[in-house]
Amino acid sequence: MPRVAYVNGRYLRHADAAIHIEDRGYQFADGVYEVCEVARGYIMDMTRHLDRLDRSLRELEIAWPMARPALTAVMREVIRRNRVVNGMVYLQVTRGVAPRDHVFPAPGVKPALVITAKRTDPAAAAKKAETGLKVITVPENRWDRVDIKSVGLLPNVLARQKAKAAGAQEAWFIDPDGTVKEGAATNAWIVTKDGRLVTRPADHGILRGITRATVIDVAAKLGLKVEERGFTVEEAKQAREAFLTAATTVVMPVVEIDGATVANGHPGSVALSLRQSFFDVAEKIKA
Ligand code: PDD
Repeated sequence: MPRVAYVNGRYLRHADAAIHIEDRGYQFADGVYEVCEVARGYIMDMTRHLDRLDRSLRELEIAWPMARPALTAVMREVIRRNRVVNGMVYLQVTRGVAPRDHVFPAPGVKPALVITAKRTDPAAAAKKAETGLKVITVPENRWDRVDIKSVGLLPNVLARQKAKAAGAQEAWFIDPDGTVKEGAATNAWIVTKDGRLVTRPADHGILRGITRATVIDVAAKLGLKVEERGFTVEEAKQAREAFLTAATTVVMPVVEIDGATVANGHPGSVALSLRQSFFDVAEKIKA
């Protein structure tokens, strides 16, 4: 069964799907995106993802490419056509196609919309969660509007590649004051010795992760305390647990930071119980 992508009003074979060379996303990274998890046939936390899309679009003064109900219908259709039960749906909105010019195009130019979906293997993810991930740290070198989920991800790409070259799976951006910002494509968390969850406040310094928000809800359900404050790399290395959150990984334990083992080097029980309860607590909309 060939994969299908939605591109500006048409469902196309994924292999043939293309956008114009003067799409502003291609030329200027002038666009935003969202990634939603699809789990057991449900789109997870779609309301929060589309609320964040709305905010990203507003911050960049890009119009919605179509009304929200129509957009959700296309998301569902792409999921259906690709027969995704477990996986993810990706959507990208750019300012549209126009002759290259830094200033915004004339008002008549329509935003461009691409939606894709792909399957992932929940068993492989579960296996990863059983062993945990390694992270490295890199100096923060991104612009200060990383709260906007823009497709301008070059520092994130370079950081993730550096992690891979070092035998790790994620890179944490570190502020000059030594505190952890977030990963290249995940939010960062630790568990203190007395069992409190700590994650950086979702101000302009990080992306306001949807999984992060839902994990705060999960923690409340499990009776766990959450502290939204900065933490240093040193504190993370000494922590009882560390973990990551993102729509692509849900909750993923971290067992090594810059070569230093976290606790006993095995995934912690708090991260694993958050991972286990996530599906029940998150919003689920039938795909
Ligand atoms: N990344 N921080 C950054 C920089 C991210 O790119 C992401 C998500 C997150 C976690 O956000 P959420 O919980 O809403 O997925 C945090 C997506 C998954 C990606 O780029 O593939």
